[in-house]
Amino acid sequence: MWDNSKDRALRERAAEVIPGGMYGHQSTALMPEDFPQFFTRAEGTRITDVDGNEYIDYMCGYGPNLLGYGHPDIARVVSEQQTRIDTATGPSPLIVDLAEAMVGMVSHADWAMFCKNGADATMMALMIARAYRGKRKVLLAKNAYHGSMPWNTPRPGGVVAEDRAHFIYFDYNDPQALTDAVKEAGDDLAGIFAAPFRHDTFADQSLPDAEYARTARRLADEHDALLVVDDVRAGFRLARDCSWETIGVRPDLSAWGKVLGNGQPISALLGNDRAREAAKSIFVTGSYWFSAVPMAAALETLRLVRESDYLEHMTQIGEALRNGLDEQAAATGFALRQTGPVTLPMILFEDDPDFSLGYGFCRAAMKRGVYMSPYHNMFINAAMTRKDIATTLEATGAAFEDIKQSRASLKPSAALAGVIDA
Ligand SMILES: Cc1ncc(COP(=O)(O)O)c(C=O)c1O
Repeated sequence: MWDNSKDRALRERAAEVIPGGMYGHQSTALMPEDFPQFFTRAEGTRITDVDGNEYIDYMCGYGPNLLGYGHPDIARVVSEQQTRIDTATGPSPLIVDLAEAMVGMVSHADWAMFCKNGADATMMALMIARAYRGKRKVLLAKNAYHGSMPWNTPRPGGVVAEDRAHFIYFDYNDPQALTDAVKEAGDDLAGIFAAPFRHDTFADQSLPDAEYARTARRLADEHDALLVVDDVRAGFRLARDCSWETIGVRPDLSAWGKVLGNGQPISALLGNDRAREAAKSIFVTGSYWFSAVPMAAALETLRLVRESDYLEHMTQIGEALRNGLDEQAAATGFALRQTGPVTLPMILFEDDPDFSLGYGFCRAAMKRGVYMSPYHNMFINAAMTRKDIATTLEATGAAFEDIKQSRASLKPSAALAGVIDA
């Protein structure tokens, strides 16, 4: 029988010593009460919460789990590297190997710099775009997330208008809106940030329109500004290259994170020769940015990305999940909107403005051992098997039946409602 008494006890303790009980994407406002907050194990495609409940995990740590938690090849290089050198007075030679490996795999890239979080990489992209020609204005798609720094964090707390003074916002996938935003920047355009596809929370995902992407490239060139693709979330889940390589558009800079070390803390900014001098001119660093263990993990992850069929496998798994859910929804009289690439599934219900159906569905699936999100895109990993999909579909089939029965009494999550309205 599913129980969460230990989780509840930990939440109470956390509320005393951690502001709000938890923060950021792990905040209790985004994790409704009966979703587990604390976990004690992660292996392959499964996570176990503090009460001992095991789940097939469709969040993958919000992305980093690409090849399976604790992948044996990566675990081996991590423990071998730990016996030699990790964080020390200078980097190990692995930093050069890793930069060469990334430049070898990502077509637009001539150089690489490494850091820890995706937000480090996007911040560097912002600074390099401004350093490139000493211009200030940066174009961002409305609601696109690039990290929790003051220039982009989705909540207003602690942010002043000056932090956002030189940003211009446009509608994703709309070449005319992009053109208008470029006009507004005038001769002060430093850069255009592009998400590889629209993957905002609480909204349908949309793949990039090729004309929009080509317009972004052309406008950046015409105005001698830099084009940035933020591949922190989608990197290596669409291609073994920058995600926009799939539509034939090459950025000047691309930001990477999450999957890069398959869970080891490492992110990267890649750039072309055009951006090299600007990259040389900025001062960015961090005490842990040169640590060797995550670099060893990243080199092994890249090897597996190059040498295995992980992407084809994840695509098949994602398709099987999408088709199975569609069939179950139709059979139980629900209309789902499953959008975006199958390797990053987003599942929203029609006629569900307060997310009560989505939340009710995910809660019912969660109590049957499948961890999904009612409002955020999810992630497929390469350790998932056909059997995992069959197990998932058993749980989701029962979850659809559950919400069909209880539909009239489903309540929106009070906590989520506060976030959606914010
Ligand atoms: C597209 C995108 N960019 C940047 C970030 C920030 O990455 P991090 O949380 O590692 O700082 C994220 C995180 O979710 C992201 O999805």
